[in-house]
Amino acid sequence: MTATIPAAVHAARPPGPPAVVLDDVTRTYRSRSGKVDALRGVSHAFASKTFTAIMGPSGSGKSTLMQIAAGLDRPTRGRVRVAGTDLAGLNRTTLTRLRREMMGFVFQQYNLLDALTAYDNVALPARLAGRRPDRAEVIAALDQVGLHGLARRRPPELSGGQQQRVAIARALHARPAVLFADEPTGALDRHAGRDVLELLRNLVDAPVTHGVAQTVVMVTHDPLAASYADSVLFLADGRVVGQMERSDPARIGARMAELEPVR
Ligand SMILES: Nc1ncnc2c1ncn2[C@@H]1O[C@H](COP(=O)(O)OP(=O)(O)O)[C@@H](O)[C@H]1O
Ligand SMILES: [Mg+2]
Repeated sequence: MTATIPAAVHAARPPGPPAVVLDDVTRTYRSRSGKVDALRGVSHAFASKTFTAIMGPSGSGKSTLMQIAAGLDRPTRGRVRVAGTDLAGLNRTTLTRLRREMMGFVFQQYNLLDALTAYDNVALPARLAGRRPDRAEVIAALDQVGLHGLARRRPPELSGGQQQRVAIARALHARPAVLFADEPTGALDRHAGRDVLELLRNLVDAPVTHGVAQTVVMVTHDPLAASYADSVLFLADGRVVGQMERSDPARIGARMAELEPVR
């Protein structure tokens, strides 16, 4: 008997219990122009300490899936559990607290305040939550994303890649169990994008990140970005239509090409 040993080091570690579970989730948007089923019966478990990429054509429901998994939006039907807690049973205050304590968010637009230094941008969520930020922890978060020595710079004095890393440091400062990223490299050039992807990869691979298990869920349309993930989940028309484990950009790109409507 010969066994194939996967080359990736992270493959050797067994995944923990799921960080986020979607159970038959449907999300229907209603507007004056009619109704749109953005998600149609999606079930998926995001294993803890793994990096998952969500891919699919434009309009396939990627952002909706992320928003629902993160408790930013509620499903029309179905259930979402985060670390074993059913989000449906939580009131707004409890849900907000769970989100603040367990989840971090990064978006294509960095959403930094230009008037504040990198340090103050990272410290802002804690301040808004009425806590005094721990100086050493803010600096540690900036160090962790490779911005050592740049704490006093304001966003306009940083490159796009550095600004996105400030945004990641801001998310990490809250020590989230799960980091959600929607097209985090969408506005970056290839080099800066690679830095951000390596950073996300390292978060998951690090034995311990600030004492919490780190799980990353990233929406992307870039097969190269998705190849940094342990697992790629493919969406089309609001449904999960496939999954690939530890794949390469060429195979991911080929699968995406099958899903893109013919133009
Ligand atoms: N707030 C909204 N109101 C109405 N329709 C929406 C809303 N958000 C998204 N949709 C629709 O839901 C579908 C999925 O959207 P989205 O999750 O943003 O897709 P993706 O991120 O894959 O591009 C699309 O048809 C989109 O037009
Ligand atoms: Mg989107």
